[in-house]
Amino acid sequence: MTSSPAPVIAVDGPSGTGKGTLCVRLARRLGWHFLDSGALYRVVAALAERSGLSPGDGPRLGRLAATLDIAFREVHGGIRVHCNNEDLTEVVRTESCGAAASKVAALPEVRAALLVVQKGFRRAPGLVADGRDMGTVVFPDARLKVFLTASPEARAERRYNQLKQQGINVRLATLRQDIGERDVRDSARTVSPLRPATDAVVVDTSDLGIDAVFERVLCLVSDRDAGGG
Ligand code: DC
Repeated sequence: MTSSPAPVIAVDGPSGTGKGTLCVRLARRLGWHFLDSGALYRVVAALAERSGLSPGDGPRLGRLAATLDIAFREVHGGIRVHCNNEDLTEVVRTESCGAAASKVAALPEVRAALLVVQKGFRRAPGLVADGRDMGTVVFPDARLKVFLTASPEARAERRYNQLKQQGINVRLATLRQDIGERDVRDSARTVSPLRPATDAVVVDTSDLGIDAVFERVLCLVSDRDAGGG
């Protein structure tokens, strides 16, 4: 007898919509595993730079991506990103690594290798997956698909406040521009472009605090558990 695969909640959308915070809270509340798929692309970009690989070398970067042993560990209430037993959290959280990740994410070889890595995170009792193509490509059979949106202004302001809290000084106008450029790159690429799955529930978080978004999505989870939608 084959058992059915562990359930998945797929949360997609551009950066700055509150996906990360929402997913960590959901995973904690449900006692499920958590996948920050953006961190996988960031790790590939960081390790490629460290090894002096060209960011456009698809075959080599694909091979590198296939060797990664990545784990998300909760330490003092925060999520740490470990790769091959090295803590890369600080390295992958920088703006420059995010921009480099968006470039390597356009390479089909990297996406193919990380597809396998991402599917490996699907384990009982369930998985909350944060990304751009969780509902469309990686987990098309997800129990619930949520697509978060927000205006570029709201997203830039959130990111600005996040960085300020971490003691990092950036200009709001620069962030707004970077977000615009990354949106174009992530939405226009031919492999797995950023778009909502046809069966995703779209939630605009421009004027919603994280608590309101969390409650809204918890209601959607309960609806699905009750057999609705
Ligand atoms: O969510 P993030 O900012 O950590 O993602 C970094 C980059 O990785 C982002 O510009 C797009 C890419 N990405 C992707 O293409 N597919 C995913 N599932 C997650 C991230």
